[in-house]
Amino acid sequence: MTETCPAPEDRIRTVACSRTEQVHVIMPGDCNQSFRLFGGRLMEWVDVVAAVVARRHSGCEVTTASIDRLDFLAPAKLNDLVVLQGRLVYVGHSSMLICVDTFVEDPECESAQRTLVNRAFVTMIALGRDKRPTGVPALLPETEAEKADYELGRARREAARQAAHAGVNPA
Ligand SMILES: CC(C)(COP(=O)(O)OP(=O)(O)OC[C@H]1O[C@@H](n2cnc3c(N)ncnc32)[C@H](O)[C@@H]1OP(=O)(O)O)[C@@H](O)C(=O)NCCC(=O)NCCS
Repeated sequence: MTETCPAPEDRIRTVACSRTEQVHVIMPGDCNQSFRLFGGRLMEWVDVVAAVVARRHSGCEVTTASIDRLDFLAPAKLNDLVVLQGRLVYVGHSSMLICVDTFVEDPECESAQRTLVNRAFVTMIALGRDKRPTGVPALLPETEAEKADYELGRARREAARQAAHAGVNPA
């Protein structure tokens, strides 16, 4: 986090204030018999990165409400570097929509080229001291990309609401 970020109680924060990156080396215990990364392990890492983004934005304890969705676009294998990047896309009253992109970097590749292997959208809810949902600071999208993301997030949230009312799975 940068030192110029306002405290959560200032009620408006930028995307940069909570942006989070996490890097893992894929170890034997993370792999299946074919030395490929377990999908469940990646889900755990995605959940943790999203929770860190949400905690940095809200300053609160958070809980996962939904993960939408996990597509495995390419395999990650033993000894690869896995880079997860999380950023806040949209906030409601207590909910925060976070996008987590996962890349694989081949450590033996000199150019260290990154391949996108997954993009997930995670909704985290801020909890107050009573463990009930509580309000979070507003989000200030600054760049053109962040503004486009914000509109996408608003549309995703509205689609999820309508699907919930219609009794269907929004994914
Ligand atoms: C998520 C949870 C806190 C919501 O509680 P609730 O009493 O339904 O709260 P509300 O109806 O007041 O909704 C609070 C917010 O959550 C959002 N929300 C609730 N369920 C949601 C879902 N499935 N997906 C996305 N957002 C959801 C609401 O839209 C609302 O957002 P807003 O405040 O920005 O408008 C509650 O369902 C819960 O504790 N679930 C279990 C979470 C958990 O254990 N996660 C770990 C999984 S192993």
